[in-house]
Amino acid sequence: MNDSLLEVNSLTLDYHLAGRKMRALDKVSFSLKKGQVMGVAGESGCGKSTMGLSIIGLLPQIAKIPRGEIVFQGEDLLRKSQRQMDKDIRGQKISMIFQNPQNALNHVFKIGTQMTDFLRFQQINQKLKKRSNKKQLYEMAVRQLEDTGISDSSERIHNYPFEFSGGMKQRVMISMALSSQTSLLIADEPTTALDMTIEAQILDLLMKLRSKYDTSILYISHNLGVL
Ligand SMILES: Nc1ncnc2c1ncn2[C@@H]1O[C@H](COP(=O)(O)OP(=O)(O)OP(=O)(O)O)[C@@H](O)[C@H]1O
Ligand SMILES: [Mg+2]
Repeated sequence: MNDSLLEVNSLTLDYHLAGRKMRALDKVSFSLKKGQVMGVAGESGCGKSTMGLSIIGLLPQIAKIPRGEIVFQGEDLLRKSQRQMDKDIRGQKISMIFQNPQNALNHVFKIGTQMTDFLRFQQINQKLKKRSNKKQLYEMAVRQLEDTGISDSSERIHNYPFEFSGGMKQRVMISMALSSQTSLLIADEPTTALDMTIEAQILDLLMKLRSKYDTSILYISHNLGVL
């Protein structure tokens, strides 16, 4: 089992709402190998996003996990503190494309600022000897936006998130997740807000990412055809 990247065992989760418990996950178990893509389907409200958020450790306070484990690269993530998750895991080993991109971008900074900050942070993290300068980071960000199908990216990069449509914000999140070269990418309905040609492009990008970096992908979708 040493090629297994992620092992979820009997994961059980309750949302505690005003004295009431609502079970959202009930003994979920599966494993994912390095470079493997797993599709997750299920009706609305069955707990798909909750499962993704559990793995990346971004659950709201009212979510409690009475039992189960999430073993990633041999370590149970449920035993890690939020600080350890921030420092070692999130954005570095596990990234997530969120179903609702509205919440993931900061309203007060331009798209380009957020993308280049993220790229700079990655280069620092990867301990690159030769880091890119500001102009190069902008060029990289423009190319990333282009790759996800945003036209006039060299101008649009100077926009604020509120000037982007939902689908465009989704693409910004996708391009950032794609550049992060993490071992595991959780894609939560990444293409629902996009039209079909863009969807095909995004799937293509995800598969390239997988073959280039051996990234494992947990792909959540309503669309069985896509899965
Ligand atoms: N923050 C929260 N507080 C309380 N209940 C929540 C919260 N998030 C999700 N739930 C509940 O947990 C259950 C699973 O929700 P979840 O968002 O994981 O479903 P999903 O499978 O991703 O649905 P969809 O396909 O609509 O995105 C639902 O009953 C939902 O109401
Ligand atoms: Mg969901």
